[in-house]
Amino acid sequence: MSRLDVAALREEFPILAAEVHGAPLVYLDNAATTQKPQAVIDRVARYYTEENANVHRAVHALAERATDAYEHARATVARFFNAAHPHEIVFVRGTTEAINLVADSFGGLHVHAGDEVLVSVMEHHSNIVPWQVLCARAGANLRVVSMTDEGELRASDVADALTARTRIVSIAHVSNVLGSVNPVRDIVRLAHERGAAVIVDGAQAAGHLPVDVQALGCDFYAASGHKMFGPTGIGVLYGRAEHLESMPPYQSGGGMVGSVSFEGTSYAPPPYRFEAGTPDVAGAVGLAAAVAFLERIDPAEIEAHEADLCAHAAAALGTVRGLRLVGTAPRRIGVLSFVLEGVHPHDVATMLDRIGVAIRAGHHCCQPLMDRLALPGTARASIAFYNTREEIDTFVAALAGVREFFA
Ligand SMILES: Cc1ncc(COP(=O)(O)O)c(C=O)c1O
Repeated sequence: MSRLDVAALREEFPILAAEVHGAPLVYLDNAATTQKPQAVIDRVARYYTEENANVHRAVHALAERATDAYEHARATVARFFNAAHPHEIVFVRGTTEAINLVADSFGGLHVHAGDEVLVSVMEHHSNIVPWQVLCARAGANLRVVSMTDEGELRASDVADALTARTRIVSIAHVSNVLGSVNPVRDIVRLAHERGAAVIVDGAQAAGHLPVDVQALGCDFYAASGHKMFGPTGIGVLYGRAEHLESMPPYQSGGGMVGSVSFEGTSYAPPPYRFEAGTPDVAGAVGLAAAVAFLERIDPAEIEAHEADLCAHAAAALGTVRGLRLVGTAPRRIGVLSFVLEGVHPHDVATMLDRIGVAIRAGHHCCQPLMDRLALPGTARASIAFYNTREEIDTFVAALAGVREFFA
């Protein structure tokens, strides 16, 4: 059992007290987006109430306050991911934009005709399509490393897929369908031995597992604020300083320049080089509030609580007749995909919604993975630290009802 005071933590998330269709909300769609604590909501409101101005541009007091808040947010996020320096943190819209930035800028620099980019079969479309676009443009090849039937990505399979032409390996830290925790540190070591850079899609890891980019040794790490209890519209790209310094801009305009003339323009140093235009200042300070909230909790306790819920849910789901769990890798966290014999995943999700249980159904932006699993889609329950065993029991009891209804 976990040592988290979950009841007290839940009180800090106003939406968790909501009712849906007359029943208490059971929110199990955390892989899609997480709920926000009052501290984040208040911080965003305070920013607009007391600090709102454009950043890095004016000398007046509000502009200084906004700039301080924005740069403080960068330092907070850098500490959370254990980046060596705040300037290794670029604020972006989310994981999708972070990967697009790396594919366009770093990929444009290093991936040429005949080169290879390596992804795994379990990647989200956001970690596939930007590489397809890059490879099509460069005349390079996108290669795919498979997984076991249980949903385990083995470092040895990655090693086998690496070649002298592999320039970039881009891998999810945690799968948003299978919950598998991938052996990122081993993959980084193997890729570096072959001279390839590694980008980690951390969308499903940040806020669930401790993330230390220096310990992982990765070249880039991408995460979304809204999946780690922060606002939507803000995300993080960590990039090693030596990479960011060598990379050309991704977008251009105000804020990312040194000086501009019609004869030529020089660019600002990173991270500003990659933050063209007015950034999402409110989102950044809100994300920093989410990080401060998370830092109050021992990450090992979050991990232990979610692992306990995951094991409890997996065992309970095993008692539902006709239910098959999809994704049973040895190292996994609380993302539970399943199929219920004779019932379409969307019908499962719709019936659960009627009694207040929010889960997700579909391909989860992982169509190549669905092809590998020979499934059109799955139903998916995904856990955060504020979920309880009672909620899991409500969810599983409801599922048994769905199964009986359709039988
Ligand atoms: C593993 C993974 N990667 C990338 C993304 C894309 O994140 P965002 O839509 O926040 O950019 C998601 C979102 O579900 C995801 O689960």
